[in-house]
Amino acid sequence: MTTIEIHVELPDGTRHTLEAPEGYRVMEVIRDYGLPIKAECGGACACATCHVRLPEDWTQRVIPARDEEMDKLDEIPGADDSSRLSCQLLTDCAIDGLVVRLEADSILVAGNDTRTELQAAS
Ligand code: FES
Repeated sequence: MTTIEIHVELPDGTRHTLEAPEGYRVMEVIRDYGLPIKAECGGACACATCHVRLPEDWTQRVIPARDEEMDKLDEIPGADDSSRLSCQLLTDCAIDGLVVRLEADSILVAGNDTRTELQAAS
């Protein structure tokens, strides 16, 4: 099984390099590494709390957003062409080395976890 790297930048300026097998959602990888991503709907493209921004050189290299994702991105103030929902990006060799910046509105604040226990445990 191929393992890829994803580089995640947090609003505080820290950068984390995560390794993941193919076939996972980028959001799941970020969450499973314990980084503070809200991802309140667990990847159902229903909450937009997994909002990330991609550097310009990556926006054309990832799979284009589907209508459902575009509709959800339209609800985020300030979202632009660099914006994606990390739950809609799948890990595959084409995105090995992907850089994403987790937006402040998607940061899970300690003591404010609104996910269900099942989501948090998955
Ligand atoms: S986790 Fe809810 S839209 Fe991505």
